[in-house]
Amino acid sequence: MNKSSKGRELQVLVILLFCCCEGVLDQNQGVTFQTPGNVGPNAAPTVVGDTLQTPGSDGSSAAPTDIADDADNSSAIAALLNSDLLSGYNPNILPKYNKPNEVSIKITLININNFDELSGQLELTVMCDLRWSDSRLSFDSSKYGGIHSILLPVSNVWFPVLYILQAYEAITRIGTNSAFVRIDSNGAVTWTFGDVFNILCTVDVKYFPFDKQSCTVSILAWYYRREEMSLYAQTSQLINEELTSESAQWDINVDESTVKNNTKDSPGPPEVQFNLSITRRHGFYIVYIIVPVMLLSVINTLVFLMPVTCGERMSVSVTVCLSFVIFMDTINNNVPESSSPMAELYKYVLSLLVQSAITIFLCVISLVLFSCKGDVPLCVQCVVKTLRFKYSSSWRCCKRKVVVMRVTPDINYSTDMLNCNDSISKVDAFGEIADDIIDWEYVSRTFDIYAGVIVLSLFVTLSVYTFVTICIS
Ligand SMILES: *[C@@H]1O[C@H](CO)[C@@H](O)[C@H](O)[C@H]1NC(C)=O
Ligand SMILES: *[C@@H]1O[C@H](CO)[C@@H](O)[C@H](O)[C@H]1NC(C)=O
Ligand SMILES: *[C@@H]1O[C@H](CO)[C@@H](O)[C@H](O)[C@H]1NC(C)=O
Repeated sequence: MNKSSKGRELQVLVILLFCCCEGVLDQNQGVTFQTPGNVGPNAAPTVVGDTLQTPGSDGSSAAPTDIADDADNSSAIAALLNSDLLSGYNPNILPKYNKPNEVSIKITLININNFDELSGQLELTVMCDLRWSDSRLSFDSSKYGGIHSILLPVSNVWFPVLYILQAYEAITRIGTNSAFVRIDSNGAVTWTFGDVFNILCTVDVKYFPFDKQSCTVSILAWYYRREEMSLYAQTSQLINEELTSESAQWDINVDESTVKNNTKDSPGPPEVQFNLSITRRHGFYIVYIIVPVMLLSVINTLVFLMPVTCGERMSVSVTVCLSFVIFMDTINNNVPESSSPMAELYKYVLSLLVQSAITIFLCVISLVLFSCKGDVPLCVQCVVKTLRFKYSSSWRCCKRKVVVMRVTPDINYSTDMLNCNDSISKVDAFGEIADDIIDWEYVSRTFDIYAGVIVLSLFVTLSVYTFVTICIS
């Protein structure tokens, strides 16, 4: 009994909850049917209000027609001005022929959209401001209700046709025909527009990732002669602190990014050049390539500290060697495959790869030495003792050996003190210098010490050389 009533209560609760939820949902959708009366009326007027508002705005748009009486008059004047200016105007004819038409250009860099170092494709968003004077378009503003300037489609008037020489894909004209020019009453024409320049910039990656790229772009008035047009830069600044946006990959060198008049009296077309000088932000590459590569290289030298018996030496050094191959591939994806100035970093990683290969080689020799059986030849003992700075007996034994080699190589064993034969030297060792018994393990350990020092100094030399070369640049 109790249980079943509880179950019913639960059922009712669930149904209630369900209804509530549905109510809330409905409320949100504004389609309220079953919810308390308060919400319904509230929702309804807003809908009505919304639908009413559109006719209302139509009404308000009707209202300006009353105010538009004045505007109608002035736009009628502008239309008159427009037709007056363009009647008999031929946009194909230069404004003047007796002396060069002066066209000034101002280029402001807005953004570096993309710089693909592999192909050298540089995409820039720039703002251009072209100014020239066309006396045919001057007018008396008092005659036209005090209008001082008028906008006309650029295709209706004469405008300078400019090209970028270092175009990446197709050589295209700067600006579009759908733009407008502003004409002042004195005939001064201003054409301001934004454009995306897709240019080719050869990349010098010798000092990657600490490199600096400089791109020179020529803007040519291809069709005109110098006696027809003179093109010059309004200002020498390419960067405007307010308009130019920062790039995540490149630092723009403001002082070296300039616009320049082409003053040389060459017979070529009128020309203006601008330079964009950018420095790579190298933080990412230090974290991504340089630090890991250096760490790997240091780990590589530590291989010689590992005991030969644990057998992990070879696997560590082979893994490190393979990692360098992968890093070379990583650099390859970021640096153009140019051989004339090969990236110093590429050479650095290559030399570390070679160092790693040498490490493997030395590890193998060390293993071979360690696993040698039998007695250590006396000459090897001498060398090892010298390397371990145990001069006391080594000099004597070496001298002794030299004497043997020179005088009597096949002398019989009875003249024992002069003989460098193994069995006798062993007796000798046991008899005289029992502390200095040298076995193959000792030889292998000595070899490890020197191999480690050599590999480490190779690494230090390579690193110092590479970074000094890059820093000096
Ligand atoms: C514009 O209105 C002024 C008076 O406000 C009048 O003198 C002039 O003729 C009108 N111009 C045109 C083009 O309708
Ligand atoms: C280019 O020449 C014009 C006049 O010949 C001069 O007004 C302008 O400042 C020059 N621009 C630069 C960047 O030197
Ligand atoms: C651009 O930079 C290069 C190298 O820095 C320089 O030789 C060239 O004259 C510069 N050009 C302009 C227009 O400043």
